[in-house]
Amino acid sequence: MTKTTEGRKRILSGMRPTGRLHLGNLVGALANWRDLQDDYECFFMIADYHALMSEYEAPAKIAANAREVLLDFVACGLDPVRSVIFRQSEVPQHAELHLILSCYTPIGWLERNPTYKEQMRELTTRDIHNYAFLGYPVLQAADIVVYRAHCVPVGEDQLPHLELTRELVRRFNNLVGEDALVEPHAKLTASPRLLGTDRRKMSKSYGNQIDIADDPDTIRKKVMSMITDPKRIRRNDPGHPDECNVCDWYKTFSPGEADEVARKCREALWGCTDCKSRLAEVLIAYLAEPHRRRQELEADPDRLHRILADGGERARAVAADTLADIKRLTGLGAM
Ligand code: TRP
Ligand code: SF4
Repeated sequence: MTKTTEGRKRILSGMRPTGRLHLGNLVGALANWRDLQDDYECFFMIADYHALMSEYEAPAKIAANAREVLLDFVACGLDPVRSVIFRQSEVPQHAELHLILSCYTPIGWLERNPTYKEQMRELTTRDIHNYAFLGYPVLQAADIVVYRAHCVPVGEDQLPHLELTRELVRRFNNLVGEDALVEPHAKLTASPRLLGTDRRKMSKSYGNQIDIADDPDTIRKKVMSMITDPKRIRRNDPGHPDECNVCDWYKTFSPGEADEVARKCREALWGCTDCKSRLAEVLIAYLAEPHRRRQELEADPDRLHRILADGGERARAVAADTLADIKRLTGLGAM
């Protein structure tokens, strides 16, 4: 019933183009997506319609941000040959299916959505009292089911949206009397959450992030500003690496030396400045390959456009196939 090439299961995931991606996005999502390419047929989307829902007051930035996200995707090893990398707005079937699915979505489901309620409470920098924003999860459901994706790799924050997608699929299939849509599973990322340089959640809005594209000097400057064990005041004080974010970063980016780092900290064999200088070099080495790939693609705008053109074409072919079925089932097909 599900049509995938080579019998592999299909994955879709996406990110909104709100700017350059950071190390949290890399270890929390992109590294995982990169590895999934070996076992799944992957669709990776730049969700620019979703960005417009909240950024409509300054929409000019969305296109430039979409370019940054594409550069970061490829830099981090998403492979435009093996995977379909595309921009949501270049596949009109997302919008079409969104409208059809919205007919099947009780408003109460959207009003009760915890993510929506939280954002209504907390997002103060933008006005999201628009009609589209309430329907954010309906478009997200369309994104997923238009490719009949089996799995959606997401962080925990997206689980309510996934659950809503699944409910919507069941309701739709039930009402049209056919299992036309595939109920997707969430694939939770196992990686630990990487905190920002100030120990809060890593986020652009806090300015505590290291971008994947940051150059070595910027990385050094940001790492040297990291907050360390507050109880370690003098160089001779023994430190508490378990309470230090710097040590957590070692575990993520250079697990082989994390024990040694912790020991030198506990025994006061080195200072926090030494420890952070070394971490900066670890990160610079970790990002060397992504930087190389990013610069290569940045220098070749034709290739960048070809990636999107090709991804859009492959995405539309699959999406059009689903839409034909759905239109037939909803009375919108041939008369
Ligand atoms: N809502 C997701 C986020 O903010 C982005 C997104 C849009 C998405 N459509 C999707 C993620 C479909 C997974 C599947 O991160
Ligand atoms: Fe943190 Fe390293 Fe300083 Fe220990 S030595 S407190 S791990 S920065």
